[in-house]
Amino acid sequence: MYKSLFLLLPLLYGSACTTPAVETSEIPTADPPGLADLADFPIGGAINEGRVRGDSALLAIVSEEFSSLTATNDMKMYAIARGPGALDFTLPDAFVNFAERQGKRVFGHTLLWHYGFPRHLMELDGEAAEGFINSYIDTVVTRYRGRVDGWDVVNEAMATSGGELRETPWLEKIGKAYIPMAFRAADRADPEAKLFINDFNTERDTAKLNGLLALVEEMQADGVPIDGIGFQMHIRMDTDEELIGRSLAKAAATGLLIHLSEVDIIFNRHDDTQGGGEQIVDKITPELLEQQAQKYESLARLYRENVPPAQRYGITFWSFTDRDTWINGFFDLKDWPTLYDEQLQKKPAYYGFARGLRE
Ligand code: G3I
Repeated sequence: MYKSLFLLLPLLYGSACTTPAVETSEIPTADPPGLADLADFPIGGAINEGRVRGDSALLAIVSEEFSSLTATNDMKMYAIARGPGALDFTLPDAFVNFAERQGKRVFGHTLLWHYGFPRHLMELDGEAAEGFINSYIDTVVTRYRGRVDGWDVVNEAMATSGGELRETPWLEKIGKAYIPMAFRAADRADPEAKLFINDFNTERDTAKLNGLLALVEEMQADGVPIDGIGFQMHIRMDTDEELIGRSLAKAAATGLLIHLSEVDIIFNRHDDTQGGGEQIVDKITPELLEQQAQKYESLARLYRENVPPAQRYGITFWSFTDRDTWINGFFDLKDWPTLYDEQLQKKPAYYGFARGLRE
Protein backbone atom coordinates (compact mmCIF):
# COMPACT_ATOMS: atom_id res chain seq x y z
CA MET A 1 0.00 0.00 0.00
CA TYR A 2 2.77 2.43 0.90
CA LYS A 3 4.51 1.90 -2.43
CA SER A 4 1.46 2.91 -4.41
CA LEU A 5 1.06 6.03 -2.28
CA PHE A 6 4.68 6.96 -2.94
CA LEU A 7 4.08 6.65 -6.66
CA LEU A 8 1.11 8.98 -6.38
CA LEU A 9 2.99 11.59 -4.39
CA PRO A 10 4.54 13.59 -7.22
CA LEU A 11 1.06 13.86 -8.73
CA LEU A 12 -0.65 14.84 -5.56
CA TYR A 13 1.95 17.18 -4.18
CA GLY A 14 3.46 18.45 -7.42
CA SER A 15 0.96 21.28 -7.57
CA ALA A 16 2.66 22.94 -4.62
CA CYS A 17 5.64 23.76 -6.82
CA THR A 18 4.70 23.25 -10.47
CA THR A 19 1.64 22.38 -12.48
CA PRO A 20 1.41 18.60 -12.83
CA ALA A 21 1.88 17.39 -16.43
CA VAL A 22 -1.23 15.18 -16.44
CA GLU A 23 -4.79 15.41 -17.66
CA THR A 24 -7.23 16.56 -15.00
CA SER A 25 -9.12 13.30 -15.45
CA GLU A 26 -6.02 11.38 -14.32
CA ILE A 27 -5.83 13.14 -10.99
CA PRO A 28 -7.31 10.91 -8.31
CA THR A 29 -10.39 12.38 -6.71
CA ALA A 30 -9.74 10.74 -3.34
CA ASP A 31 -8.13 12.85 -0.62
CA PRO A 32 -4.35 12.93 -0.85
CA PRO A 33 -2.65 10.63 1.62
CA GLY A 34 -1.89 12.20 4.96
CA LEU A 35 1.57 12.09 6.50
CA ALA A 36 0.61 9.06 8.59
CA ASP A 37 -0.30 7.19 5.37
CA LEU A 38 3.11 7.93 3.90
CA ALA A 39 5.16 6.72 6.85
CA ASP A 40 5.83 3.18 8.03
CA PHE A 41 5.99 4.44 11.63
CA PRO A 42 3.56 6.59 13.64
CA ILE A 43 3.29 10.31 12.90
CA GLY A 44 1.99 12.39 15.76
CA GLY A 45 0.76 15.83 16.68
CA ALA A 46 0.60 17.58 20.03
CA ILE A 47 -2.63 19.39 20.88
CA ASN A 48 -4.85 20.16 23.82
CA GLU A 49 -8.40 18.87 23.60
CA GLY A 50 -9.85 22.33 24.33
CA ARG A 51 -7.85 23.84 21.45
CA VAL A 52 -9.18 21.47 18.83
CA ARG A 53 -12.78 21.56 20.06
CA GLY A 54 -14.79 23.84 17.78
CA ASP A 55 -11.87 24.39 15.38
CA SER A 56 -12.83 22.36 12.33
CA ALA A 57 -9.69 23.27 10.35
CA LEU A 58 -7.42 22.06 13.16
CA LEU A 59 -9.57 18.98 13.64
CA ALA A 60 -9.25 18.12 9.94
CA ILE A 61 -5.45 18.25 10.19
CA VAL A 62 -5.47 16.08 13.31
CA SER A 63 -7.75 13.51 11.80
CA GLU A 64 -6.15 13.36 8.34
CA GLU A 65 -2.45 13.67 9.04
CA PHE A 66 -1.63 11.95 12.32
CA SER A 67 -1.81 8.43 13.71
CA SER A 68 -0.67 9.40 17.22
CA LEU A 69 -1.63 12.24 19.55
CA THR A 70 0.17 13.77 22.50
CA ALA A 71 -1.48 16.21 24.90
CA THR A 72 0.46 19.47 24.86
CA ASN A 73 -0.52 20.25 28.45
CA ASP A 74 -3.67 18.26 29.36
CA MET A 75 -1.78 15.34 30.94
CA LYS A 76 0.88 17.29 32.85
CA MET A 77 1.02 17.06 36.63
CA TYR A 78 -0.02 20.68 37.01
CA ALA A 79 -3.18 19.89 35.02
CA ILE A 80 -4.05 16.92 37.27
CA ALA A 81 -2.59 17.63 40.75
CA ARG A 82 -4.01 21.13 40.82
CA GLY A 83 -4.17 21.47 44.58
CA PRO A 84 -3.73 19.53 47.80
CA GLY A 85 -7.07 17.70 47.33
CA ALA A 86 -7.97 14.81 45.03
CA LEU A 87 -6.46 14.56 41.57
CA ASP A 88 -8.54 16.16 38.82
CA PHE A 89 -8.88 14.13 35.63
CA THR A 90 -11.15 16.50 33.71
CA LEU A 91 -8.52 17.53 31.15
CA PRO A 92 -6.73 14.20 30.62
CA ASP A 93 -10.03 12.29 30.39
CA ALA A 94 -11.30 14.68 27.74
CA PHE A 95 -8.02 14.35 25.83
CA VAL A 96 -7.84 10.54 25.95
CA ASN A 97 -11.53 10.22 25.01
CA PHE A 98 -10.99 12.59 22.09
CA ALA A 99 -7.90 10.76 20.85
CA GLU A 100 -9.67 7.42 21.07
CA ARG A 101 -12.71 8.71 19.19
CA GLN A 102 -10.28 9.81 16.50
CA GLY A 103 -8.77 6.31 16.46
CA LYS A 104 -5.27 7.59 17.30
CA ARG A 105 -2.50 6.13 19.39
CA VAL A 106 -2.39 8.09 22.66
CA PHE A 107 0.96 9.20 24.04
CA GLY A 108 1.14 10.44 27.63
CA HIS A 109 3.18 13.58 28.33
CA THR A 110 4.40 13.69 31.07
CA LEU A 111 4.46 12.05 34.51
CA LEU A 112 7.33 14.00 36.13
CA TRP A 113 8.62 17.38 35.04
CA HIS A 114 10.18 20.26 36.94
CA TYR A 115 8.33 22.97 34.98
CA GLY A 116 5.03 24.03 36.50
CA PHE A 117 5.85 22.00 39.62
CA PRO A 118 2.66 22.19 41.74
CA ARG A 119 3.32 24.62 44.59
CA HIS A 120 1.59 22.53 47.24
CA LEU A 121 4.14 19.76 46.67
CA MET A 122 7.10 22.00 47.49
CA GLU A 123 6.67 21.43 51.21
CA LEU A 124 6.91 17.60 51.01
CA ASP A 125 10.00 16.08 52.64
CA GLY A 126 11.90 13.21 50.95
CA GLU A 127 9.76 10.38 52.26
CA ALA A 128 6.50 12.17 51.50
CA ALA A 129 7.79 13.05 48.02
CA GLU A 130 8.55 9.39 47.32
CA GLY A 131 5.09 8.46 48.56
CA PHE A 132 3.54 11.10 46.31
CA ILE A 133 5.45 10.01 43.20
CA ASN A 134 4.52 6.36 43.70
CA SER A 135 0.87 7.03 44.37
CA TYR A 136 0.51 9.73 41.66
CA ILE A 137 2.07 7.56 38.96
CA ASP A 138 0.13 4.51 40.10
CA THR A 139 -3.19 6.39 39.96
CA VAL A 140 -2.59 8.12 36.63
CA VAL A 141 -1.06 5.20 34.74
CA THR A 142 -3.61 2.71 36.11
CA ARG A 143 -6.47 4.98 35.06
CA TYR A 144 -5.31 4.85 31.43
CA ARG A 145 -3.89 1.30 31.42
CA GLY A 146 -4.32 -0.23 27.98
CA ARG A 147 -5.43 3.14 26.53
CA VAL A 148 -2.23 5.20 26.69
CA ASP A 149 0.40 3.44 24.59
CA GLY A 150 3.45 5.13 26.08
CA TRP A 151 4.51 7.76 28.58
CA ASP A 152 7.22 10.34 28.95
CA VAL A 153 7.89 9.13 32.48
CA VAL A 154 10.54 11.73 33.26
CA ASN A 155 10.82 14.86 31.17
CA GLU A 156 13.99 16.97 31.05
CA ALA A 157 15.90 15.13 33.80
CA MET A 158 19.17 16.53 32.45
CA ALA A 159 20.44 20.07 33.06
CA THR A 160 19.83 22.47 30.17
CA SER A 161 23.39 21.96 28.92
CA GLY A 162 26.23 19.58 29.78
CA GLY A 163 25.91 16.10 31.20
CA GLU A 164 24.65 16.64 34.76
CA LEU A 165 21.23 15.94 36.19
CA ARG A 166 18.89 18.92 36.44
CA GLU A 167 18.43 20.29 39.95
CA THR A 168 14.70 19.71 40.19
CA PRO A 169 12.64 19.61 43.39
CA TRP A 170 12.51 15.80 42.94
CA LEU A 171 16.31 15.56 42.85
CA GLU A 172 16.62 17.80 45.91
CA LYS A 173 14.06 15.86 47.92
CA ILE A 174 14.80 12.27 46.87
CA GLY A 175 18.13 12.23 45.03
CA LYS A 176 18.86 10.47 41.75
CA ALA A 177 16.72 7.48 42.80
CA TYR A 178 13.58 9.41 41.84
CA ILE A 179 14.16 8.50 38.20
CA PRO A 180 14.25 4.66 38.45
CA MET A 181 11.51 4.91 41.10
CA ALA A 182 9.21 6.66 38.62
CA PHE A 183 9.86 4.09 35.88
CA ARG A 184 9.22 1.19 38.27
CA ALA A 185 5.95 2.74 39.47
CA ALA A 186 4.76 3.26 35.88
CA ASP A 187 5.71 -0.30 34.92
CA ARG A 188 3.83 -1.77 37.91
CA ALA A 189 0.72 0.19 36.92
CA ASP A 190 0.85 -0.78 33.23
CA PRO A 191 3.47 -3.36 32.27
CA GLU A 192 2.55 -2.99 28.58
CA ALA A 193 3.06 0.77 28.37
CA LYS A 194 6.24 2.00 26.64
CA LEU A 195 8.21 4.09 29.10
CA PHE A 196 10.36 6.97 27.85
CA ILE A 197 12.89 9.42 29.16
CA ASN A 198 12.51 12.63 27.14
CA ASP A 199 14.81 15.65 26.77
CA PHE A 200 15.80 18.59 24.57
CA ASN A 201 18.99 19.62 22.75
CA THR A 202 20.31 16.04 22.98
CA GLU A 203 20.63 15.93 19.18
CA ARG A 204 23.22 18.75 19.30
CA ASP A 205 24.67 18.90 22.82
CA THR A 206 26.94 15.85 22.87
CA ALA A 207 27.83 16.19 26.56
CA LYS A 208 24.13 16.25 27.40
CA LEU A 209 23.43 13.22 25.20
CA ASN A 210 26.35 11.32 26.76
CA GLY A 211 25.06 12.13 30.25
CA LEU A 212 21.58 10.98 29.32
CA LEU A 213 22.86 7.77 27.72
CA ALA A 214 25.03 7.00 30.75
CA LEU A 215 21.92 7.32 32.92
CA VAL A 216 19.93 5.11 30.54
CA GLU A 217 22.66 2.46 30.45
CA GLU A 218 22.85 2.46 34.24
CA MET A 219 19.09 1.92 34.39
CA GLN A 220 19.28 -0.89 31.84
CA ALA A 221 22.09 -2.57 33.84
CA ASP A 222 19.96 -2.30 37.00
CA GLY A 223 16.95 -3.85 35.29
CA VAL A 224 14.89 -0.64 35.42
CA PRO A 225 11.96 -0.92 32.97
CA ILE A 226 12.80 1.74 30.36
CA ASP A 227 11.65 1.28 26.76
CA GLY A 228 12.59 4.44 24.94
CA ILE A 229 14.43 7.71 24.53
CA GLY A 230 12.62 10.85 23.40
CA PHE A 231 14.46 13.54 21.46
CA GLN A 232 12.25 16.61 21.69
CA MET A 233 13.97 17.89 18.52
CA HIS A 234 13.22 21.60 18.84
CA ILE A 235 15.90 22.40 16.29
CA ARG A 236 17.16 25.41 14.35
CA MET A 237 17.85 25.86 10.67
CA ASP A 238 21.58 25.77 11.44
CA THR A 239 21.50 22.61 13.59
CA ASP A 240 24.17 20.35 12.11
CA GLU A 241 22.55 17.45 10.26
CA GLU A 242 25.48 15.06 10.55
CA LEU A 243 25.47 15.64 14.28
CA ILE A 244 21.74 14.88 14.45
CA GLY A 245 22.35 11.62 12.57
CA ARG A 246 25.24 10.60 14.83
CA SER A 247 23.22 11.39 17.95
CA LEU A 248 20.25 9.33 16.78
CA ALA A 249 22.52 6.40 15.89
CA LYS A 250 24.22 6.60 19.28
CA ALA A 251 20.89 6.55 21.11
CA ALA A 252 19.58 3.75 18.89
CA ALA A 253 22.62 1.66 19.87
CA THR A 254 20.97 1.22 23.30
CA GLY A 255 18.39 -0.95 21.51
CA LEU A 256 15.57 1.24 22.87
CA LEU A 257 12.71 2.86 20.99
CA ILE A 258 13.49 6.34 19.66
CA HIS A 259 10.78 9.02 19.54
CA LEU A 260 11.24 12.43 17.93
CA SER A 261 8.69 13.76 20.37
CA GLU A 262 8.23 17.54 19.90
CA VAL A 263 9.55 18.50 16.47
CA ASP A 264 9.74 22.06 15.20
CA ILE A 265 12.43 23.99 13.25
CA ILE A 266 13.07 27.69 13.87
CA PHE A 267 14.87 30.36 11.85
CA ASN A 268 15.83 32.48 14.83
CA ARG A 269 17.92 31.85 17.93
CA HIS A 270 17.38 31.69 21.67
CA ASP A 271 19.30 30.90 24.82
CA ASP A 272 16.84 28.21 26.04
CA THR A 273 15.31 30.58 28.59
CA GLN A 274 11.85 32.14 28.64
CA GLY A 275 12.00 35.45 26.78
CA GLY A 276 15.50 34.59 25.57
CA GLY A 277 14.85 34.86 21.84
CA GLU A 278 17.15 36.62 19.37
CA GLN A 279 15.34 37.82 16.24
CA ILE A 280 17.71 37.11 13.33
CA VAL A 281 15.09 36.65 10.62
CA ASP A 282 12.19 39.10 10.77
CA LYS A 283 10.59 38.40 7.42
CA ILE A 284 9.75 35.06 5.91
CA THR A 285 10.48 34.58 2.19
CA PRO A 286 9.81 31.78 -0.31
CA GLU A 287 13.56 30.99 -0.30
CA LEU A 288 13.61 30.58 3.48
CA LEU A 289 10.50 28.43 3.38
CA GLU A 290 12.16 26.20 0.79
CA GLN A 291 15.27 25.88 2.97
CA GLN A 292 13.04 24.89 5.85
CA ALA A 293 11.35 22.30 3.63
CA GLN A 294 14.76 20.80 2.93
CA LYS A 295 15.53 20.69 6.64
CA TYR A 296 12.26 18.87 7.37
CA GLU A 297 13.03 16.46 4.52
CA SER A 298 16.49 15.79 5.97
CA LEU A 299 15.07 15.21 9.43
CA ALA A 300 12.70 12.49 8.18
CA ARG A 301 15.58 10.89 6.27
CA LEU A 302 17.97 11.08 9.23
CA TYR A 303 15.41 9.30 11.39
CA ARG A 304 14.92 6.54 8.83
CA GLU A 305 18.65 6.18 8.18
CA ASN A 306 19.78 6.05 11.80
CA VAL A 307 16.95 4.37 13.68
CA PRO A 308 16.25 0.72 12.77
CA PRO A 309 12.59 0.08 11.81
CA ALA A 310 11.75 -1.87 14.99
CA GLN A 311 12.95 1.05 17.14
CA ARG A 312 10.94 3.79 15.38
CA TYR A 313 8.33 4.87 17.89
CA GLY A 314 7.51 7.77 15.59
CA ILE A 315 7.85 11.47 14.86
CA THR A 316 5.56 13.90 16.69
CA PHE A 317 5.12 17.59 15.78
CA TRP A 318 4.68 20.05 18.62
CA SER A 319 1.68 22.35 18.13
CA PHE A 320 2.36 21.97 14.36
CA THR A 321 0.92 25.32 13.10
CA ASP A 322 2.60 28.73 12.96
CA ARG A 323 -0.62 30.06 14.51
CA ASP A 324 -0.37 27.88 17.62
CA THR A 325 3.38 27.36 18.04
CA TRP A 326 4.72 27.80 21.60
CA ILE A 327 7.95 29.31 20.21
CA ASN A 328 6.75 32.87 19.68
CA GLY A 329 5.22 33.34 23.12
CA PHE A 330 7.88 31.49 25.06
CA PHE A 331 10.97 33.05 23.51
CA ASP A 332 9.33 36.41 22.69
CA LEU A 333 10.02 35.97 19.00
CA LYS A 334 8.29 35.95 15.67
CA ASP A 335 9.09 32.66 13.95
CA TRP A 336 7.60 30.14 11.52
CA PRO A 337 8.71 26.77 12.86
CA THR A 338 5.99 24.30 11.82
CA LEU A 339 4.41 22.47 8.88
CA TYR A 340 1.34 24.76 8.64
CA ASP A 341 1.14 28.53 8.27
CA GLU A 342 -0.97 30.90 10.36
CA GLN A 343 -3.99 30.23 8.14
CA LEU A 344 -3.46 26.49 8.69
CA GLN A 345 -2.35 25.96 5.10
CA LYS A 346 0.37 23.42 4.32
CA LYS A 347 3.79 25.06 4.00
CA PRO A 348 6.68 23.86 1.82
CA ALA A 349 7.90 22.28 5.09
CA TYR A 350 4.96 19.87 4.93
CA TYR A 351 5.87 18.74 1.42
CA GLY A 352 9.55 18.53 2.33
CA PHE A 353 8.78 16.26 5.27
CA ALA A 354 6.50 14.13 3.05
CA ARG A 355 9.41 13.76 0.58
CA GLY A 356 11.68 12.67 3.41
CA LEU A 357 9.25 9.87 4.30
CA ARG A 358 9.43 8.39 0.79
CA GLU A 359 11.79 5.74 -0.41
O1 G3I B 1 -4.46 28.09 29.99
C1 G3I B 1 -3.90 29.35 30.42
C2 G3I B 1 -4.80 30.46 30.04
O2 G3I B 1 -6.03 30.32 30.75
C3 G3I B 1 -4.11 31.80 30.38
O3 G3I B 1 -4.90 32.85 29.90
C4 G3I B 1 -2.74 31.86 29.70
C5 G3I B 1 -1.98 33.13 30.04
O4 G3I B 1 -0.62 32.90 30.17
O5 G3I B 1 -1.99 30.78 30.13
C6 G3I B 1 -2.58 29.54 29.74
O6 G3I B 1 -1.76 28.48 30.13
C7 G3I B 1 -0.56 28.35 29.41
C8 G3I B 1 -0.58 27.02 28.67
O7 G3I B 1 0.66 26.79 28.06
C9 G3I B 1 -1.66 26.95 27.59
O8 G3I B 1 -1.35 27.83 26.56
C10 G3I B 1 0.57 28.38 30.41
O9 G3I B 1 0.67 29.67 30.97
C11 G3I B 1 1.86 28.02 29.73
O10 G3I B 1 2.88 27.87 30.74
C12 G3I B 1 1.73 26.71 28.99
O11 G3I B 1 2.92 26.52 28.29
C13 G3I B 1 3.19 25.20 27.85
C14 G3I B 1 4.55 24.79 28.42
O12 G3I B 1 4.95 23.54 27.88
C15 G3I B 1 4.50 24.66 29.93
O13 G3I B 1 3.67 23.61 30.29
C16 G3I B 1 3.21 25.20 26.35
O14 G3I B 1 1.87 25.39 25.87
C17 G3I B 1 3.75 23.88 25.83
O15 G3I B 1 3.92 23.95 24.43
C18 G3I B 1 5.09 23.58 26.47
O16 G3I B 1 5.51 22.29 26.03
C19 G3I B 1 6.84 21.92 26.42
C20 G3I B 1 6.83 20.43 26.64
O17 G3I B 1 5.85 20.06 27.58
C21 G3I B 1 8.21 19.94 27.09
N1 G3I B 1 9.23 20.36 26.16
C22 G3I B 1 9.26 21.76 25.86
C23 G3I B 1 7.88 22.23 25.35
C24 G3I B 1 7.91 23.66 24.97
O18 G3I B 1 8.17 24.47 26.10
